[in-house]
Amino acid sequence: MKNNFSKTALHKLTGVIIFTMMGLTLTVSAQQKARLVINADQGEHKISRHIYGHFSEHLGRCIYGGYWVGEESEIPNKRGIRTDVVGALRKTAIPNLRWPGGCFADEYHWTDGIGPREERPTMINTHWGGITEDNSFGTHEFLELCEQLDTEPVIVGNVGSGTPDELSKWVEYVNFDGVSPMADMRRENGRDKPWKVVYWGIGNENWGCGGNMTPEYYSDLYRRFATYARNYGDVRLRKVAGGANASDYNWTETLMKNIPHWMMWGLSLHHYTTKWESKGPATGFSESRYFNVLDRCLRIEDIIDRHISIMDRYDPQKRVAMVVDEWGTWYDVEPGTNPGFLFQQNTMRDAFVAGLSLNYFNERCDRIRMANIAQTVNVLQALVLTDDEKMLLTPTYHIFEMYSVHHDATLLPSELSAGYYEFEGKKIPTLSASASKDNKGIIHISIVNIHPEEASELEIDLRGQDVSFVSGRILTSADVGDHNTFDQPDKVKPEIFRDAKLDGNILTALIPAASIVVLKLK
Ligand code: AHR
Repeated sequence: MKNNFSKTALHKLTGVIIFTMMGLTLTVSAQQKARLVINADQGEHKISRHIYGHFSEHLGRCIYGGYWVGEESEIPNKRGIRTDVVGALRKTAIPNLRWPGGCFADEYHWTDGIGPREERPTMINTHWGGITEDNSFGTHEFLELCEQLDTEPVIVGNVGSGTPDELSKWVEYVNFDGVSPMADMRRENGRDKPWKVVYWGIGNENWGCGGNMTPEYYSDLYRRFATYARNYGDVRLRKVAGGANASDYNWTETLMKNIPHWMMWGLSLHHYTTKWESKGPATGFSESRYFNVLDRCLRIEDIIDRHISIMDRYDPQKRVAMVVDEWGTWYDVEPGTNPGFLFQQNTMRDAFVAGLSLNYFNERCDRIRMANIAQTVNVLQALVLTDDEKMLLTPTYHIFEMYSVHHDATLLPSELSAGYYEFEGKKIPTLSASASKDNKGIIHISIVNIHPEEASELEIDLRGQDVSFVSGRILTSADVGDHNTFDQPDKVKPEIFRDAKLDGNILTALIPAASIVVLKLK
């Protein structure tokens, strides 16, 4: 595949563009200057590792084929769960996994997914392709997956078509250690000890697929459902209210007004980069599509700021977390695949969306304490794609792995001045950066250069901490449309970055066009 504007990256590693005219070759420097000031002694807020969380729904080949192949499968598995996918995600230190939806959650009845698999009832997955769901992957399988991943489960309850009693019993089944009807049933189904699941979503997109409710009606329902989701033993539940879609500020306002902070650990927000527009293809895109996706990705900053300012009015102490529990790119499905399965490829453009979004979530970590990319395997902006026994890691995967250095580190205040990427009269900032300090005092800086043609010479002024060593990693490729395929699974992968020089506390780095760099300083 070639992009319409693939000329760009040919010489980007040197920051130079070469034009050929009448047999003569002219070399023009295409390099911007940028400056980043980091106050290494002034960090106040922790970047929760849960910002790097995940979402997996009963949708397309995410659960079935993506994680779950069953114990009888020839694909290597442990208790029915693919060992290759688990191994890959563990390398990103995956902090949490949200399940079973999405829209599926408000149609899911958890009791259908427990007990002997051959006796479980089936249902129609009305949202996603109208296929028959056999419920072979249910509560036990999901929590087994989380144990194999060493990750925290986030379970989303059914508010749209369920009852408070159903949710209450699910919590009891999963979390109660004593003798009770639900805990006894769990034991009969092969699990003695409770799993102690802390994070519970109370419905999903209840303004839409989760019941088409008004925010007033949902607030009342939230209070009712949340009341009966009980704490057992030492487990204090962290309940997340189903939040707004993108710029629906009235939803946030109404929930903040009507639900007391002590009932709501978090309030969610969903933002997809291209869901409601003409989406365009995941690969083979034009420069106009490239620019627009990144422009729209950056708009999440303003949207989040406005939701946060509403939350700040009702909760200036920031007790309620913002939880961006669905975000990412949404393109046309790959030709020839089921339109209800939302299967799309993943290019360097997606790596930029991931890098920009995560940098921004880091910056707002005083309020954003959880986020979940949609959706980890084989759906939308996936980290992992599978094809029967084959598996590949996408450019988005590499960003999550490279950025894992920010997990639970302290955000360092920083100020970036950089140039712009201009296209057809519009412009967006070329660079984005985020810095943190981990508990060993090591500083990491993630830098994204979305300009397809121009490198940036970045001067970093590190204040408040002496450093004497720099190293780095880079994700880049010859073309912003480059991606990994089952034939070429390593076309896009991180490499060592060598273009950083330290002089006292001034670091100079040449950030190539279309690249993401993570620096380590100590
Ligand atoms: O991630 C796909 C779908 O997008 C989810 O099911 C829903 O919550 C959102 O609209």
